[in-house]
Amino acid sequence: MLPFISYIQGRLTIDGVGAESLAASFGTPLYVYSANAVRERFAQLQAAFAPLRPTICYAIKANSNIHLCRLLASLGAGMDVVSGGELERAWLSGVPMSNVVFAGTGKAESEILAALVGSKSPLVGTLPVTIAPPDNRGPVGWFNVESEQELERIARIAQTQGVVARCALRVNPDVDAKTHKFTTTGKHENKFGVPIERAVAIFERFRDHRSVFLRGLHCHLGSPIATPTPYVEGLRALTALMDRLETQKIPIQSLNIGGGFGVDYGNNAVEPIESFAHAINPLLADRVERGLRVIIEPGRWIIANAGVLLTRIQYIKDAGTASDANAEMTRTFAICDAGVHTLIRPALYNAHHTIWPAITTPELALNSLTPDAHISPTELLAYDVVGPICESTDFLAKARLMPKLSQGDLLAVFSAGAYGMSMASTYNDHPKPAEVMVDSQRVIRIRARQTAFSLIADELAPG
Ligand SMILES: Cc1ncc(COP(=O)(O)O)c(C=O)c1O
Repeated sequence: MLPFISYIQGRLTIDGVGAESLAASFGTPLYVYSANAVRERFAQLQAAFAPLRPTICYAIKANSNIHLCRLLASLGAGMDVVSGGELERAWLSGVPMSNVVFAGTGKAESEILAALVGSKSPLVGTLPVTIAPPDNRGPVGWFNVESEQELERIARIAQTQGVVARCALRVNPDVDAKTHKFTTTGKHENKFGVPIERAVAIFERFRDHRSVFLRGLHCHLGSPIATPTPYVEGLRALTALMDRLETQKIPIQSLNIGGGFGVDYGNNAVEPIESFAHAINPLLADRVERGLRVIIEPGRWIIANAGVLLTRIQYIKDAGTASDANAEMTRTFAICDAGVHTLIRPALYNAHHTIWPAITTPELALNSLTPDAHISPTELLAYDVVGPICESTDFLAKARLMPKLSQGDLLAVFSAGAYGMSMASTYNDHPKPAEVMVDSQRVIRIRARQTAFSLIADELAPG
């Protein structure tokens, strides 16, 4: 648990505000973020990697709420974007575009143009008048290029526009990040980047190109990664490649080592960020002294533990005793108003989130994300925490031990700040939840709850 999200006298508080009062004011399901937790995480990251003086490009995909992006921009973050939509968010959040990196395997022509010269495609629409757009709209700092054909496309567009595109080639070093196979991105069989053997030829081909400045390297191995070992393995391959390119008079100016740093979800042993930095910093410190710019692009590590999803139990249903592969077990369903549509990670990756009643007794309150650390299992019952969606994949947890639950209880789903709201859907026509940010006891609604009619509005638009 982070200090800003904790139980006081058995009641969950976020930055000093009670979870129950937030749920009463804004309804459920509700995403709540602690601004101070975000600040603290960002500062910790900066401190850990200080010897490398990295540009920290927040991976917007983890949580793209514009207010969180603005908070991070105000702390000095750059942004990692993967679409034209995220590009617009980065711009609106006020980061200098030179601190934006543009990744993504399938960049469309219009997205490349927008990232190069700021032109808007019809997909962007018109800006709501309530937002004052920043003035600056220069080109992005670096394109993280995923394939040779993409580089050719960027080159052609840059030539037509009479500009130079700064590009980093994403290499795929065939390193196993030892994470879920759906979130592994640095193995040969994954669609990301180009193999190291191919990279040299691509650098040579574009060495003197007039419209492409190919002097960066990028690599992202997957997410979440629990130990520094895959980074070290990946960096050995990358630094060897840099040395080889140097001998061919192609000096690399910028090295982006990706994101993916694992966080504590309550079930997994993850090394602290200082361990990652301790292993990575010595591999690059000399090069930084010689002028290399290092970029990191974490999303989850900054925002996951700074967010909580609050959900209200609608029904408790006892399903009797069922035969499991191992034993007979009693199933009790806690049917909530959040589910796979609000937080897809459990269904998609079998991911674990600690879930606990927001109001409990001081003895049963959590003081870490691992409840069994101090609470005797005899005081707990097993629940399947499920949602209202018509799918059997609609679950937040299975056979989870919790204090006895009742209809109307408020549950807190912890570590839900990353890949929660940004992956939420409106399946079954459930409008998306509201989001609030609590900043030193000040509560700011940063997203209104969607309405059912707004889901139908686009279908009724004239045309
Ligand atoms: C290229 C790239 N960079 C950074 C990230 C961010 O990962 P994380 O949020 O785990 O730090 C991702 C996640 O998918 C990614 O694909």
